[in-house]
Amino acid sequence: MPSASSASRPRLVLATLNLAKARELAAHLGDIPYEVRVLAELPGAALPEETGDTYRANALLKARAAARFTGAWALGDDSGIEVAALRGAPGVRSARFGGPGLDDAGRCALLLEALRDVPPAERVARFRCVVALVDPAGGEHTAEGFVDGVITDAPRGRHGFGYDPVFLYPPLAQTFAELAPEEKARVDHRGRAVRAARRFLGMH
Ligand code: IMP
Repeated sequence: MPSASSASRPRLVLATLNLAKARELAAHLGDIPYEVRVLAELPGAALPEETGDTYRANALLKARAAARFTGAWALGDDSGIEVAALRGAPGVRSARFGGPGLDDAGRCALLLEALRDVPPAERVARFRCVVALVDPAGGEHTAEGFVDGVITDAPRGRHGFGYDPVFLYPPLAQTFAELAPEEKARVDHRGRAVRAARRFLGMH
């Protein structure tokens, strides 16, 4: 019997230049019969600007670019946090909330300030993620995942990134930054979206 050598498996490229995100995506994909590569590790690779108005549009922009560059299957994702009291903002603009001068801590502080007078019961928020898969023939598939929580009144925890320190996950009564990475991975929006997308790769 021929073995499942990497030469016989289809290639799947993760359309990200961020190695930490690539590791997370690969962990969510789990054991799949694809030879998984990361765009960041391919010489000359680049990604287009995230000019879409939706997570889906941006995830597809990234996946299409990586599929064109490699001729392989490509997986792109886009995500953000939606705060009900801010009518869904910052949403698809989460990474740019407050402008280019802010870092993650600055964006969390700005969000807390925007919610200063908002009572606990009205601080609901949702992380949302869309994963796009583009196959070598140009076929496009998308899947979504989300997780609901509450914005705290101060940052808590040292893990994670982005808005994790201010996002309380009520079922565990901890912020995403207080959870160990593997605990967050079991419940977060990105994991849910990637696991939903596995069916397009023939996985269940
Ligand atoms: P992108 O999907 O890499 O474009 O990231 C969008 C932005 O949304 C990030 O820069 C973060 O600000 C925020 N975000 C998305 N997912 C998470 C998460 O799991 N934790 C914290 N912040 C997140």
